[in-house]
Amino acid sequence: MDLVREAAAAIRAGGIVAFPTETVYGLGADTYNPEAVKKVFIAKRRPMDNPLIVHIHSLNQLYEVAVKIPPEAEKLARRFWPGPMTLLLWKSDKVPPEVTAGRPTVAVRMPAHPVALAFIRESGVPIAAPSANLAGRPSPTTGEHVVRDLYGRADVIIDSGETVYGVESTIVDMTRDPPVLLRPGGLPVEEIERELGKEVVIPQFARGLGQADVALAPGMKYRHYAPFKRLTIVEGDYSDLKAYAAKVAEVVKQEIAKGARPIILCSSETAQYYEQQGLRHLVLGPRSNIFIVARNLFKTFRAIDEMLDVDEAFMEGFEERGLGLAVMNRARKASGFSIIRV
Ligand code: TXA
Ligand code: MG
Repeated sequence: MDLVREAAAAIRAGGIVAFPTETVYGLGADTYNPEAVKKVFIAKRRPMDNPLIVHIHSLNQLYEVAVKIPPEAEKLARRFWPGPMTLLLWKSDKVPPEVTAGRPTVAVRMPAHPVALAFIRESGVPIAAPSANLAGRPSPTTGEHVVRDLYGRADVIIDSGETVYGVESTIVDMTRDPPVLLRPGGLPVEEIERELGKEVVIPQFARGLGQADVALAPGMKYRHYAPFKRLTIVEGDYSDLKAYAAKVAEVVKQEIAKGARPIILCSSETAQYYEQQGLRHLVLGPRSNIFIVARNLFKTFRAIDEMLDVDEAFMEGFEERGLGLAVMNRARKASGFSIIRV
């Protein structure tokens, strides 16, 4: 808690702080201090036209930063906050244009992490924060990842070990009716639809396919989440896993024949098959519990960069249900849309 107090003091002094949330680590500044907010962009080399998420600890702060909040947004806030959901709303005059990249909207979320909530409360202001990685890199899911990317670039780094979800929050645009999914994340969009009793529009870019309309989803135009090494997603029919794994193995064997040293990022269900074939592989988690796969995804992207005897990775695809939608969005984007269908 001493560290939380130190971090809050740094925020009040116009500094920037890396802090844990239940999704990924964030790099935050005082939302109301434009000079501090600019430091966040500089520290992570983020393009200035990609807006930040405003993190709050109470509903009172929601009414400070957003206006004309539709009842449906309030309903979602009451049901899913604190939690891995970000709502896009009309911004109040208190929020400076540096936070929203000049947009009339603001992205708001209340994180479900005791350290994050204590830090925001102690700071006394909403905290504007993107993920605490260098722009383009996989989001940090451990304090160690943050140190790797931002050592010497943040005033305080709070290390609280590994995050729970491992993928960022789900972003829903509530300024539109029906609402639009801007980014799938930790909260399955199906749960939002169930709560609202209606469908949320899921654009192609939210699946990680095709480029976003920049006006709608500014963050989606950049290559993201990527390991330095080449990554290819091998998508197929997952109803017959044995046949699917055989096709993945075929692709990988062709690569080996060309002299490459590939590794397969696979599910627990197919690992045995690659083992039998003598193919190098890393298990992301079980298809039967996609939560684990999401949690391990960015960590695994960073891990393959550390493997000296591996020069490229082939990742299995996953069904786009529940957290599977976030997994596939991140994977496709991280691959730079290098996707093979078998
Ligand atoms: O889980 C999370 O959301 C984490 C933790 C730290 O809270 N934050 C996070 O922020 O992932 P990041 O780096 O993804 O950046 C915020 C995203 C970007 O894709 C940005 O384009 C979008 O939110 N965003 C923020 N404000 C927006 C706005 N006014 N309109 C459209 N998109 C916006
Ligand atoms: Mg990010």
